[in-house]
Amino acid sequence: MRKKIVAGNWKMNLDYHEGLSLFSEIINMINDEVTGRQEAVVCSPFIHIHSLAHLAKHYTKISLGAQNAHQAESGAFTGEISAKMIKSVGATYVILGHSERRQYFGESNKLLAKKTDTALKNGLKPIFCIGETLQQREANQYFDIIKSQLDEGVFHLGETEFSELVLAYEPVWAIGTGVTASSDQAQEIHAFIRREIAAKYNQDIADATTILYGGSCTPKNAPDLFAQPDIDGGLIGGASLKSRDFVDIVKVFNL
Ligand code: 13P
Repeated sequence: MRKKIVAGNWKMNLDYHEGLSLFSEIINMINDEVTGRQEAVVCSPFIHIHSLAHLAKHYTKISLGAQNAHQAESGAFTGEISAKMIKSVGATYVILGHSERRQYFGESNKLLAKKTDTALKNGLKPIFCIGETLQQREANQYFDIIKSQLDEGVFHLGETEFSELVLAYEPVWAIGTGVTASSDQAQEIHAFIRREIAAKYNQDIADATTILYGGSCTPKNAPDLFAQPDIDGGLIGGASLKSRDFVDIVKVFNL
C-alpha cells in the first residue's frame, strides 16, 4: 500500500507567533484524533520550520516541509535558501514546482528539474506539483501539459531517486478559487499520471507513488476525492490555515 499524505501549504501567511500557535493546535488534535497510518505534513514559511520541528519531535504522524528551495548547493545567491539548510532545521519535504512559483517567479520545468536534483541530493523529498491552467484545460491540452511537466521536470531521475518523490496534481483553475476539480476529473488525471510513471519506469514504481490532489480541497469534498483509487491525499492551501479543517481532512484516512 502506498503512503497516504495530507500536506498543508501555508503559502506566505502567518507571522512566527501565529504559525506556532496554529501548529500547536494541529499537533494536539492529530495526537488525539488521528488513528490511521496517514502522514500529515505542514509546509510553512522557512522561518517557522526550526521551531515547528522542535514542537513536533515526539510526534510521528506529522512532518515538516518547505515551499521552495534553491537549485544551487550554496553560494552567492543573496536572499535564497538551500536544500541543505532546510534539511538541517528538521524538514523532510519541500514543495517544488507549485503553480504560483511557475507563474510569479518564472520557474520552468528545466529549472525545476535542477531543484529536484539538489533537494534529493540533500535528503529532502520533493512534493512535485504539476497541473494545467484554465486556458489549457479549455483548449483540451491538459494531458500534453502534464506529460511535459513530468517528462521535463522529473522523468530524468533514476528509479531510486524517483521513488523518493511525492507528486501533486493541482489544476491551476482550482487553486484558491473555491472551484474544485470533480472527483472524476481528478481521478482521470491521477490515473493518467500513474500510467505515465508505469510507462517510464515500471508498474511497481507507479503503484508505489503517492499522488496528491490540490485545489480548493475542504473537509467537505475531501472524502469523495480521497475515495478515488488513484488519489492518495491532498495538498491543502486555505483550509490548512484552520486547525479544525486541516485535521478533519487528515482524518479522512482514519481507519
Ligand atoms: P487552496 O486549497 O487554497 O485552493 O490551495 C491549493 C494549493 O495551492 C496548495 O498548494
